[in-house]
Amino acid sequence: MRTLRIFQTSAFILGASLTAFAAAETPADFLQQFEMAARQESASKQGFSAQRGETFFRTTHGREWSCSSCHTQNPSADGKHAKTEKRIAPLAPAANAERFTNPSKVEKWFKRNCNDVLGRACSAQEKGDVLTYLISLKK
Ligand code: HEC
Repeated sequence: MRTLRIFQTSAFILGASLTAFAAAETPADFLQQFEMAARQESASKQGFSAQRGETFFRTTHGREWSCSSCHTQNPSADGKHAKTEKRIAPLAPAANAERFTNPSKVEKWFKRNCNDVLGRACSAQEKGDVLTYLISLKK
């Protein structure tokens, strides 16, 4: 009996940690992944900052658009695509529970949007700062 229980417990822990590692399903999971990646990117551990994320989000980076051009200065509200004028649902997780729950979506849009705004991929540090800013926003 006892052995069985230990086996069940370790199987559960193993399962839970594998799931946590394999698929990010919540904004906190993504934050953790960006944190791990940022640590590999740079030896200096500066952590993430909502303030830096907000500035990054609102300013242009040598091109026409900033993140706010489509997601507006208020990511808790609807956005509007700068070119097609299509409505974009709010980006802040507090205002839109679907945000940062799907790895392929997060990856696809970071890739496309960072390329439009910066002409390159965003670093893990930049993604972590932006997500920290978005998580800090209330509804
Ligand atoms: C040209 C317009 C445009 C710009 C500029 C833009 N985005 Fe987006 N973004 C979109 C659209 C369109 C979507 C996908 C539609 C949707 O998910 O509602 C999207 C989706 C996203 C998502 C997906 C999140 C999720 O889990 O659903 C993230 C993250 C994101 N944008 C971040 C950014 C960041 C960071 C910047 C600035 C570097 C940026 N965007 C600039 C248009 C834009």
